[in-house]
Amino acid sequence: MVPLSALFALTACGLATAVTQQPKVQIQDGTVIGFTNNSIDNFLGIPYADTPERLRPPQRLSSPFGTLNATAIPASCPQHPLIVNPEVFTQLPPEVSGPLLSSTIPPSVVSEDCLNLIIQRPSSTTPDSRLPVLFWIYGGGFATGSSVPYDYSTLIQESVTLGQPIIVVRVNYRVGAFGFLPGKELQNDGGTNLGLRDQRLALEWVSENIAAFGGDPDKVTIWGESAGSISVMYHALINNGNSTYRGKPLFRGGIMDSGAVLPAEAVDSPTAQGIFESFSAAAGCGLEDALTCLRGLPYEEFLNATAVIPGLFGPEAFRLSFPPRPDPRMISSHSRRRRQSSSVKLHLSPSSRAIKKMKTQQPALPYNAVVQYYVNFINSLDPNVDIHGKCEKKLPHWPKWDKDERLSIHFLDNATVVAPDDDRKDAFEYFSGVQSELLF
Ligand SMILES: *[C@@H]1O[C@H](CO)[C@@H](O)[C@H](O)[C@H]1NC(C)=O
Ligand SMILES: *[C@@H]1O[C@H](CO)[C@@H](O)[C@H](O)[C@H]1NC(C)=O
Ligand SMILES: *[C@@H]1O[C@H](CO)[C@@H](O)[C@H](O)[C@H]1NC(C)=O
Ligand SMILES: *[C@@H]1O[C@H](CO)[C@@H](O)[C@H](O)[C@H]1NC(C)=O
Ligand SMILES: *[C@@H]1O[C@H](CO)[C@@H](O)[C@H](O)[C@H]1NC(C)=O
Repeated sequence: MVPLSALFALTACGLATAVTQQPKVQIQDGTVIGFTNNSIDNFLGIPYADTPERLRPPQRLSSPFGTLNATAIPASCPQHPLIVNPEVFTQLPPEVSGPLLSSTIPPSVVSEDCLNLIIQRPSSTTPDSRLPVLFWIYGGGFATGSSVPYDYSTLIQESVTLGQPIIVVRVNYRVGAFGFLPGKELQNDGGTNLGLRDQRLALEWVSENIAAFGGDPDKVTIWGESAGSISVMYHALINNGNSTYRGKPLFRGGIMDSGAVLPAEAVDSPTAQGIFESFSAAAGCGLEDALTCLRGLPYEEFLNATAVIPGLFGPEAFRLSFPPRPDPRMISSHSRRRRQSSSVKLHLSPSSRAIKKMKTQQPALPYNAVVQYYVNFINSLDPNVDIHGKCEKKLPHWPKWDKDERLSIHFLDNATVVAPDDDRKDAFEYFSGVQSELLF
């Protein structure tokens, strides 16, 4: 309920531009009314699916919403309880523990009815603009996370300054036991990796609806950090790397910040089954027709029972309980080889070490420069376009991944060369080569 009243208050203090207009966009499902703030149009909480049935795949919206007042902070998906072990944080330097701790602040509004999107665009956008689309997928270890905290106004404003404006879509997807509960029951029921299925359905929504917002459905870049980065890579693998929808690619590029496909045991493996069974027992559902029982539980009982599944910062610190898991009907273990026929181009961030290295070369890389690489990539799939042109400072070329330096990962156009970012290199190699030694 905050946005409009808060904005007028800010305006009165002279801190923000007045909200003078309410942008309206007509789509098949109805009319979406947003708000403008500092030259950015915001549309908050557009549903891309029906309220999901618990532990079932998302379904596209079955009835129109009429007029949607997309101005209030939307619901985030239920979060896996973070059983925080303070030891984990005291052992880390403050510049690391600070962001980690702030990432544990739970969203203000949480509901199982959370499959919604946030769209931000330059307020100068017209229905004919056909702006390249950046589709953001948050991190949080597949256990927590929300689209709400990520405001990309600055990034969009910078893209306008660079003469290459973009439109940003932020997706909410199910996490924790709501989104990634493994086990053979879910496999038999077609309900594995639900959070990834949510993201995928949202991409289909973008394909169908983003043109009405002034976006170009043929120029979608998917972008994520950590679990979001891992998700980006999965979208290049799902369905044997075939990401077409109604004959057109859902996205043409991806940006991966810190994370590649994880070494995960199959969704019906003993490890995965153990997670399902301990959870079902804690929820009082046992093994007989467990899914029916789990679906019938009141929300709070289901949520409370998830506490038996280790969280990210628990005593087994940084254990991932909810990684996407191979399921032959969705993610095959042979996907990587097949992916070579995919034409998606992935652009990977250098690690912080690489950025440091780039900084030691002259000139240093300010935030705006990094943004320029990103905006270049989103517009033209080449991060190095024009970096010696418009920009007064000469910027170094975005580095290619290098085995010794482990600078960054690049998928070449033809996807014959795959190299993961430094710290996750080994994980990727497990996945691609040593299926029998998988960890999670
Ligand atoms: C839309 O919601 C805002 C608060 O989020 C409220 O101030 C405004 O009156 C609402 N508009 C309509 C048309 O319902
Ligand atoms: C409006 O924009 C300013 C500056 O970008 C930001 O600090 C503020 O949170 C925004 N307000 C809303 C309601 O989005
Ligand atoms: C890709 O997948 C879509 C949807 O599942 C299907 O219609 C299409 O035939 C597939 N394309 C190829 C080349 O397999
Ligand atoms: C869930 O856990 C909370 C916090 O421990 C407790 O207050 C609440 O009563 C529990 N709810 C149910 C339905 O067990
Ligand atoms: C893939 O592209 C790279 C460089 O763009 C090239 O060196 C390599 O030969 C290509 N491989 C195939 C199989 O086309």
